[in-house]
Amino acid sequence: MEILSPTFIQKEFSILKPREEWSFRDAGRSQTTAFTHDYHRYPAKFIPQIVRKLIEDYAPEKNQIICDPFGGCGTTLVEAKLLGHKSIGFDINPVAKLITQTKTSAINPKTLQNYRQKFLDFYENNNAENRIHYPRIGYWFDEPTVKELDRIYSAIKKIENPNVRRFFLCSFSHNLKNCSRWLMKSIKPTIDKNKELPNPLKSFLHHLDSMVKKNEKFYSKLSESNFLNVQAKMYRKDSTKKFPIRSNSIDLIITSPPYVTSYEYADLHQLTLLWFGEDPNHFKKWHHFSDEFIDFRRKFIGTGSKKEKNGDINSEIGSKIVNDLMQIERPLAIDVGNYFLDMKKVFAEMHRVLKSGSKACVIIGNTTLRGVAILNAEVAVEQMQKAGFKKFDFIKREIPNKMITPWRDIESGKFTGMNNPLKTRAYEYEYVVVMEKLP
Ligand SMILES: C[S@@+](CC[C@H](N)C(=O)[O-])C[C@H]1O[C@@H](n2cnc3c(N)ncnc32)[C@H](O)[C@@H]1O
Repeated sequence: MEILSPTFIQKEFSILKPREEWSFRDAGRSQTTAFTHDYHRYPAKFIPQIVRKLIEDYAPEKNQIICDPFGGCGTTLVEAKLLGHKSIGFDINPVAKLITQTKTSAINPKTLQNYRQKFLDFYENNNAENRIHYPRIGYWFDEPTVKELDRIYSAIKKIENPNVRRFFLCSFSHNLKNCSRWLMKSIKPTIDKNKELPNPLKSFLHHLDSMVKKNEKFYSKLSESNFLNVQAKMYRKDSTKKFPIRSNSIDLIITSPPYVTSYEYADLHQLTLLWFGEDPNHFKKWHHFSDEFIDFRRKFIGTGSKKEKNGDINSEIGSKIVNDLMQIERPLAIDVGNYFLDMKKVFAEMHRVLKSGSKACVIIGNTTLRGVAILNAEVAVEQMQKAGFKKFDFIKREIPNKMITPWRDIESGKFTGMNNPLKTRAYEYEYVVVMEKLP
């Protein structure tokens, strides 16, 4: 097999021109949030249009198995189901699992309407059970809101149908941020001192009803195409460990990995983790995530302040980046090195589970930290080659401006606000790295 040298890879990427057909410039909000895609906010999700095009290009036959090892809120799994493919996703974040399972389970609209009425009856006729919350709940919510949310939560738990109950819990989880002092749109846990808190029930029902409408469209689309029972499985799983899948069994992988020192997914979902974690009867393992939050947070790839891991990154480009950073900021260099090591393990597993000749599509962006270019895409190509893949296609795509692209501080590389004069666009372009498993 022809191995592309690090110099060649870097040259290839430096001369790539963005391909217009991959910008999806004309896809409006109604298209990017179609069907169940907008059930729950989730940071750094990709738009369904990218996934759809990749499935159409690389899984043209029906009934294939598509995998996303960084499943997030389930964009890949939802699109796979809409196109009649089985899917399997992993994510370390239990909130991702909850959202994905909800988004991939179409519920008979009549059943849902009946339960909406039942829920309201439960709510009217019952007082909230006396729950003891984690003290941190008091930091985010005022007392009347907690009482009201307790009442809504108790009513939801009376819903006996598990799919419907999860649907309501997903809406509840989404609504926690609205009802708390959390600064909306902030990508870090920040208090908004001036926030006017909504009525929790009204706000919950408002979102629930939008989900009900979306479920109806999803359900009727799947029924028309006879895809209602197409399997979509989502596991809470650390993708740096062995995937629970047989070797040579997957037809296509579509994934977008986390980035180093970017989003802290555990922090961002802490309201749901705190609320559900305190309820060990219904969310047995979630208790553990909230009690041992620091340990749990460390399992997310790209999270800062980890101890240095040992091993070969399997990428000359990656090793040079880490060495350059070592001269500037050692802890950051360690984080970036750990990130590359973790990604190497995921690529090896992706290679093991794919069928020969099948494609792995990795949607990934580059960035700059402390003035050093972090060439995630180029490093991924080198690492994937070493894992046994060969180049199939490298696509550069513009991320159109209308999508909210966060800013980064030029110096620290950390996310920053609009008003910072040293801001730079974090990701103006990204790449779709398409690699093929050698036969
Ligand atoms: C860029 S997001 C993926 C978003 C997804 N494409 C979507 O549309 O929702 C990256 C995901 O990787 C997950 N992640 C981070 N570390 C992980 C690990 N060790 N194992 C599995 N998933 C992990 C994060 O929780 C996050 O959901």
